[in-house]
Amino acid sequence: MNILLINGSPRAGRSNSVKLAEAFIEGFKECSKANGTTDEVYQIDVAKANIAPCKGCFACWKNTEGKCCIKDDMTTVIEKQLWADVIIWSFPLYYFNVPGILKNLIDRQLPMNLPFMIDRTDGTGSGSHPSRYDMSGKKHVLISTCGFYSAKGNYDCVRSMFDHFCSKDRYETIFCGQGELFDVKSLSSRTNQYLESVRKAGKEFASGGITDKTRGDLNTLLYPKEVFEQMADASWGISKDTGKKEDESLVFTRQMAALYNRGSYDGKDRVLEIHYTDIDKCYQILLNKDGSKVYTDGSLKATTRIDTPWDVWLSISRGEIGGSAALAKKMYKVSGDFSLMIDWDKFFGNAGGGTQEEPETAGKLKKPTMLTMLIPWIVLWVAVPINGDIGPLITLAVCGLVPLIMAQHSMTIYDRISIGTVAALSLFSALTGSARAASNLGYLAFGLMWLLSCLTKEPLCACYVKYNYGAENALKNPIFMKTNYILAAAWGVLYLCTATWTFFLSRAGFGTSLIIINNLMPVLMGIFTRWFENWYPAWVAGGSGK
Ligand SMILES: Cc1cc2nc3c(=O)[nH]c(=O)nc-3n(C[C@H](O)[C@H](O)[C@H](O)COP(=O)(O)O)c2cc1C
Repeated sequence: MNILLINGSPRAGRSNSVKLAEAFIEGFKECSKANGTTDEVYQIDVAKANIAPCKGCFACWKNTEGKCCIKDDMTTVIEKQLWADVIIWSFPLYYFNVPGILKNLIDRQLPMNLPFMIDRTDGTGSGSHPSRYDMSGKKHVLISTCGFYSAKGNYDCVRSMFDHFCSKDRYETIFCGQGELFDVKSLSSRTNQYLESVRKAGKEFASGGITDKTRGDLNTLLYPKEVFEQMADASWGISKDTGKKEDESLVFTRQMAALYNRGSYDGKDRVLEIHYTDIDKCYQILLNKDGSKVYTDGSLKATTRIDTPWDVWLSISRGEIGGSAALAKKMYKVSGDFSLMIDWDKFFGNAGGGTQEEPETAGKLKKPTMLTMLIPWIVLWVAVPINGDIGPLITLAVCGLVPLIMAQHSMTIYDRISIGTVAALSLFSALTGSARAASNLGYLAFGLMWLLSCLTKEPLCACYVKYNYGAENALKNPIFMKTNYILAAAWGVLYLCTATWTFFLSRAGFGTSLIIINNLMPVLMGIFTRWFENWYPAWVAGGSGK
């Protein structure tokens, strides 16, 4: 297919809209490639072309049979329109219409029509002029960004003009609000997502039409209205109070604050103090139920403080380096309440460079729960020692029931290993009558499972808790991984010790004390785990540890 891209932005190559048009063409080409055909693309940057305004002389109608008396680049534009199968009109919205330079080009299309009056059959306007050429098979696509938060209601003039000029419903549109964000590198994770939808739209358009699903994605706002407007206001770099130019670090901090997600408010007002160490600028962002506000006078009491070189923070926000990886490498420091950092994506959406994946990634199943793994073991250690006849049968039944009870949750490898091992130990106990040995072997197996998981890419606890920290993204977080390796090793060692002392103490007749000790130790270890998983990351972030 022949594709003509008319880039009507006065910014030419720096246009936001043309980024969408290019993505659309990429998608279109993908479809052609899959069908074994190729497309040829010709691009006209109107801003760079020499196209004078129409003189209104009607010479092209009266004297020259469709040839304009002005000799400039418009000749190529018309030739290429006749050559093209698909014409993509890419432009920004200017005063609710196309920019002047594009309107100029449209006016100069007069030679493409014959002068005669014809009636319209599509109910648009009161008349028309027949086309000099057969344009009926050509497809038109309008791709445009605009500056307001939404495209809705802003394109009436554009639609009306193209209804007249291409006929109603004879062209496809992609209109996107918040267009200036396509130029903000630190927001590229969101804008790239949108460009991906445009690419998909191009592919679908080439194979018949844009689906409702993709249309829905294209109509989804890049950011909620308030977030966008706060960000847009900040982006001008001018103080709302004084009208004076602001320091770029303050502008950036205001934009970051704008990304605060009010829905993440957990009843606790927070003050994030950010100190750009190399340029010695310090700002405070108040985060509460009403939104976020930046303070420059240091008047608030900080709850979390970040000390970072300005460049480092900029690179993180642009997604050039991962925030947690940079923290682990001590490129910046965090002190105070660390919960803000742990849930950064929840509080600031994409501000830290990287989208948080939907936690529930495994189909429609809920995230895995540690209970699935723990229940069989607990039943083994309680039921089997209490009653060596019925205990193993109860445990076996529980092993069979747990997958059914937990059917709504996805299962981890450790859930399966646990159910299988406990079932085997119950059978062993039922067949041999060695309840005590089965229970003790359980401690050994449980400890080994935790310890051996430290040799894998995902230690046991990480398999469950990663869903609270951005799912698979958490595995790229060195601090998260280190915390979980330490905890998995600690649990492993505890249960190997439990197996050892149970073996010796039960022979020495300390059976009753063992029940207390063996139930108390995991409770204490649970308390330690809760404390450690908060303390350790904060300790590393504060600049300690290796
Ligand atoms: C002169 C002028 C007029 C504009 N008029 C509108 C408008 O009416 N509505 C709107 O939402 N945005 C308006 N904008 C914003 C642009 O549409 C927006 O910045 C767009 O993303 C620029 O796209 P481009 O990079 O492809 O040129 C206007 C911008 C300029 C410079």
